[in-house]
Amino acid sequence: MYCDKYNEELFSFIKNSPTQYHAVANMARSLSNGGFVELREHDSWFIKPHSKYFATRNGSSIIAFLTGDNCPWESGIKLVGAHTDSPCLKVKPTPEIQSHEMVRLGVEVYGGALLNSWFDRGLNLAGRVTVLVTDEDNDKDNIVNISGVGEYGKEFIRTLLVNYDTAVATIPSLAIHLDREANTKRVLNPQIDMPPLFTIYSHSHLEDLENGSIQQESNDFIREPDSFSNSSTSKSFRLMLLEQVIKENSNINIKELLDFDMSFSDAQPPFFTGVNQDIISAPRLDNLLSCHVALKSILRVYSDNASVDFTSTQGGFAPPCMVVCTDHEEVGSDTAAGAKGSFFNSVLSRLIPDTEQRVRSAARSFMISLDNAHAVHPAHSELYDSSHTPVLNQGPVLKTNSSQRYASDCESAALFRYICKRADIPMQTFVMRSDMPCGSTIGPIISSSTGIKTVDAGAPTLAMHSIREITGSADPFMLFQVINHFFSMESLPLLSLI
Ligand code: CO
Repeated sequence: MYCDKYNEELFSFIKNSPTQYHAVANMARSLSNGGFVELREHDSWFIKPHSKYFATRNGSSIIAFLTGDNCPWESGIKLVGAHTDSPCLKVKPTPEIQSHEMVRLGVEVYGGALLNSWFDRGLNLAGRVTVLVTDEDNDKDNIVNISGVGEYGKEFIRTLLVNYDTAVATIPSLAIHLDREANTKRVLNPQIDMPPLFTIYSHSHLEDLENGSIQQESNDFIREPDSFSNSSTSKSFRLMLLEQVIKENSNINIKELLDFDMSFSDAQPPFFTGVNQDIISAPRLDNLLSCHVALKSILRVYSDNASVDFTSTQGGFAPPCMVVCTDHEEVGSDTAAGAKGSFFNSVLSRLIPDTEQRVRSAARSFMISLDNAHAVHPAHSELYDSSHTPVLNQGPVLKTNSSQRYASDCESAALFRYICKRADIPMQTFVMRSDMPCGSTIGPIISSSTGIKTVDAGAPTLAMHSIREITGSADPFMLFQVINHFFSMESLPLLSLI
């Protein structure tokens, strides 16, 4: 697989994953196509050697693993971690804000979004909804993203993905003439400034209003302005959303929309820029870039040797490999689907039920926790430690922090350096300036709850948490080559793990 082809697939993954729910559904689909068997948390699990499995939680976190031929308590497990969520604007339950013949949608800011970057862009709307369905017409085998079903008679609550997949809103800047200090003193208030403009009443509609010939259509979002101030307002967005859900799921008998989790994202797909097209501009590179690297790498573990007999007990297989991609990293990970939740430890304890064997396995395992790293900004190198200034297109970045905001230590960093060297990929290092606080990621969380030796690393990135982030055109593929090499290693030469 070459760099151009890799980036093409990455771009497609990012474009088709406007939310963590879509990312997990797309990863689940790729894994299923790659021969991985889905294990549902509420079923009994019968794990076989030399097999491929995956499980999801909440439709927003996913763990995939290859059981290999060795006992994990003898070989350890090779893990790669990442997070599925990205900063965004989440639509409020009753979102309509009406003023001057315009409707905006109230939003909450999810994660540490760089709000300036959200203005004057085409915004897509996507997420998941819960709908009431009757069971006759439902294709239960085709439920990829269902995260819970309640039964009452013949009614079910079903979770469905929704994606307008086009620009449906925009957040207009205030003109410079009305805010002369915008370039020096602009302060944004999320409650006031961030609700995206969603619609304007049409002229013909206003004329109808004036002529007194208006008649409300129950499923039409454009309504008599006054209607937004009465109790029917909350139905407007929901009705419009229901219409979209029905359009995207015409095979399902939907009775009612019950709830939604919708968020705005950049409608513009990823693209190359730079005179040599050596820069990638894309939404959600943090951390879909890493999810994609992890996914592509685990899909390739056996695929280079498709004729291998998986039932053989002979050697030649790598130790078990696992990919852990969790939700809610951008808001602290302390949720059922987040890295601080029980998902990972629950999967691990079902994979290795015996406590003694599980603890021994963890003590022999190694995780590369992937999350993007700060590349040096060309206009602001003073904000970086001058000896630790990662540059785009010059290899993955090893991240360290003495306060353990990153899990890397002298041993895990050594192994990461070794793997990069063996993969023939250059690598860089990042540590924050000593007078600035350091961010964190899922590496320390999983490492602290399991004891698994972990290194934090990631692709160099500019504009982190902007609506569009920037990396080098060679960076995703270089990181993939490192992880691909890691997964192909038959043993890890770190003596403290052996
Ligand atoms: Co991140």
